Amino acid sequence: MTILNILNYPDPRLHNIAAPVKKVTEEHKKLIKDMAETMYSAPGIGLAATQVNQHIQIIVIDISENKDSLLVLINPKIIDKRGEQFCEEGCLSVPGVYEKVQRSECIKIQALDNCGNLLKLEADGLLSVCIQHEMDHLLGKVFVEYLSPLKKSRIKSKMIKLSKRKDTT
Ligand code: NI
Repeated sequence: MTILNILNYPDPRLHNIAAPVKKVTEEHKKLIKDMAETMYSAPGIGLAATQVNQHIQIIVIDISENKDSLLVLINPKIIDKRGEQFCEEGCLSVPGVYEKVQRSECIKIQALDNCGNLLKLEADGLLSVCIQHEMDHLLGKVFVEYLSPLKKSRIKSKMIKLSKRKDTT
């Protein structure tokens, strides 16, 4: 397995729109394994293929304490949603930034699992937030885009400074 490089905001490639997966291949399965490994080692609770510069609709999530409940969602679609919640979010592409974002409280989704089988799932709380956050990545949207222009530009300059520091060390 390989730890993949995670794109950092404001990398323009984070705004690419991911294409649906037509058929789950061995190549996709390898990518899923690498994405899971990358997420666990970060450590994080969710990762979208967009974040590792693969612009296809694949998400991995694990919100369990023991990191033993990997959820793989391919071509996820929200088929129902209700309520609202306001939760603090972070993102592996925006390290060190945590901000509150408004999301649906409860969602019903449909997706393919890593074998290509149809999967339906209802989620609320943290899992619901996490799925909505990762699905946004597939649409080229990073969570900081929900914040005020001022906050957004502060985060952007902070991230640019951070990446310059990384380049020189
Ligand atoms: Ni994220």
